[in-house]
Amino acid sequence: MAKALSSYVCQSCGAAYNRWQGKCDACGGWNTIALEAAAAPLPGAARGSGARGKGRPIPLEGLSGAAQEPPRVASGIGELDRVTGGGFVKGSVILIGGDPGIGKSTLLTQACAALAQRGERVLYISGEEAVGQVRLRAERLGLSQAPVELAAATHVEDIIATLAAGPPVRLVVIDSIQTMWSSSVESAPGTVTQVRGSAQLLIRHAKDSGACVILVGHVTKDGQIAGPRVVEHMVDAVISFEGDGGHHFRILRAVKNRFGPTDEIGVFEMTGGGLAEVANPSALFLAGRDAGAAGAAVFAGIEGTRPVLVEIQALVAPSSLGTPRRAVVGWDPARLSMVLAVLEARGGLKFGMSDVYLNVAGGLRISEPAADLAAAAALISSLAGSPLAPDAVYFGEIGLSGAVRPVSLANARLKEASKLGFRAAHAPSATRDMEKDPPLRLNPVGDIGDLVAAIAARRPARRPHVIAGDG
Ligand code: TYD
Ligand code: MG
Repeated sequence: MAKALSSYVCQSCGAAYNRWQGKCDACGGWNTIALEAAAAPLPGAARGSGARGKGRPIPLEGLSGAAQEPPRVASGIGELDRVTGGGFVKGSVILIGGDPGIGKSTLLTQACAALAQRGERVLYISGEEAVGQVRLRAERLGLSQAPVELAAATHVEDIIATLAAGPPVRLVVIDSIQTMWSSSVESAPGTVTQVRGSAQLLIRHAKDSGACVILVGHVTKDGQIAGPRVVEHMVDAVISFEGDGGHHFRILRAVKNRFGPTDEIGVFEMTGGGLAEVANPSALFLAGRDAGAAGAAVFAGIEGTRPVLVEIQALVAPSSLGTPRRAVVGWDPARLSMVLAVLEARGGLKFGMSDVYLNVAGGLRISEPAADLAAAAALISSLAGSPLAPDAVYFGEIGLSGAVRPVSLANARLKEASKLGFRAAHAPSATRDMEKDPPLRLNPVGDIGDLVAAIAARRPARRPHVIAGDG
């Protein structure tokens, strides 16, 4: 038998090399390559059908066979089910990533308890915390009576043997995949090879047994789920749990989903008694809004299929630096540069001597181009020192020509705004799917000049010098 050789494996992407090098050619990471025992045969690959005999023909089927809707188990937590696409699919594997302390273990404890209370067999395997710590959390959540089966373990073969014994398991949570190790892989626990090998065994078990497996994954500083990207490719769904320490709400977002949509978000609020679902995120994001301040505009956005209103705040202040600062939280900095350039070139405004700060209130991250108009309104309002109408919402995409282009789902945005008490909407004039009788007053905006003129008209006389060429 050949002696086990060593190889150098990138701990970030899993690429293997014959010798050490400072930079991984595959993913470009520096100092990510470490010595590992020989690339072990993929766990289980050499076992099973035994040796290198001839393969057996596999039965082939047509595409038109009976394709049933994948059987799902709803967790009972509405916001979680919304993100997974209606519940956990049997035999599927979900990777859930997020910063430490964001609430992954809390959310999964609540999901386990909700399922177990409905009579399903549910296991929670913790590789990071002792049984006592998990119990303490359950007690704090008021869920210690839920019939969840609990263990602190890290050896994958033991875990799979446990799952195989007894009645069929509906859901198993592995907290976290980075702590798992398999004896069929020769590398040390925690290495990329171990993580990949352990994930592979658990995924195979899920497919064979029909249990749904949830893997918790740690996130590196730059927001990637740590360990090999390969794990992301192997699982059926990747969900990220986001939020920042300063805010008590959390957003669950599907990054990849083989059985559902990837643009839905679930919104939770971290309370003293665990994560509470937020059924009306707009009310939460708009809470505490200072409606009379200059530089704040309400954006009527869409997250997945759900309209969400959020306040966009801008501050334009005289700069003392040679190169003025541009800082953005919750939006794309490149998009801000573009909107500023269009406002300067097409709207006749001057931002060149000012620092510009843009913030999406509440910590939400917006990726829709429809936010351009709201961001522009906030910027103009701050520059002019003139507050916008407190009962107006803004949406629309700005083109480089200064034209405001229509965006999708205008009706849903208008309805949500009217439901929350807004009376006016500044929307692209070419919006097509607008109802004949919109629920609020529409102010069509054809191009950026219209917006500058409308806001300048509201300008108080105190700071007349700031808008250069309005009118
Ligand atoms: P946890 O689920 O352990 O995070 P993760 O598994 O993602 O690392 O949650 C940790 C944080 O949540 C911790 O700082 C305390 C807070 N928390 C609450 O505010 N309320 C609660 O009911 C619970 C259980 C936790
Ligand atoms: Mg945890």
